[in-house]
Amino acid sequence: MALATHTVSVNPVFLQEIKEDHHELRQLIHHVGAMLNRPDWMQLEYGRLVELFTKLRDQLAMHFSLEEAYGYFEDAISVAPHLSRRAERLRAQHVQLFSELCGLAERSERLLYGEARAADMRGLADGFHHFSASLQQHELSESELIVASLNEDIGSGD
Ligand SMILES: [Fe+2]
Ligand SMILES: [Fe+2]
Repeated sequence: MALATHTVSVNPVFLQEIKEDHHELRQLIHHVGAMLNRPDWMQLEYGRLVELFTKLRDQLAMHFSLEEAYGYFEDAISVAPHLSRRAERLRAQHVQLFSELCGLAERSERLLYGEARAADMRGLADGFHHFSASLQQHELSESELIVASLNEDIGSGD
């Protein structure tokens, strides 16, 4: 079997710490979700919605940057290939999730500048629902990878 030149791996302790620290990210997701789920969303303060999306985008960028700087690393040393594949796949999801959120933030701006119709608002709410479900799944998979990496360390007698 050919050896990979780079092996992506996680630092389980740091990654766990970054995840626990992201209270603000969770709060913002909650606020945006609550705002979009309101039955009277046509009365929405679009300025506030755009502001929340902008903050959320910044927080997510910071969250992913911290994870990539301290939680994931690349090494020539071979870690268990199944863990490495999972780490690589999860890290790659950051770009997808971030661009999904950027698209939603842009759509909220279009609503603010008056080009919106009810269908756009519904589309934005659906889009956000999809995004937050994907992010939640990503976070869950990261937590599972943290546990698996810790177990692997124990198993290998480190
Ligand atoms: Fe992540
Ligand atoms: Fe994360």
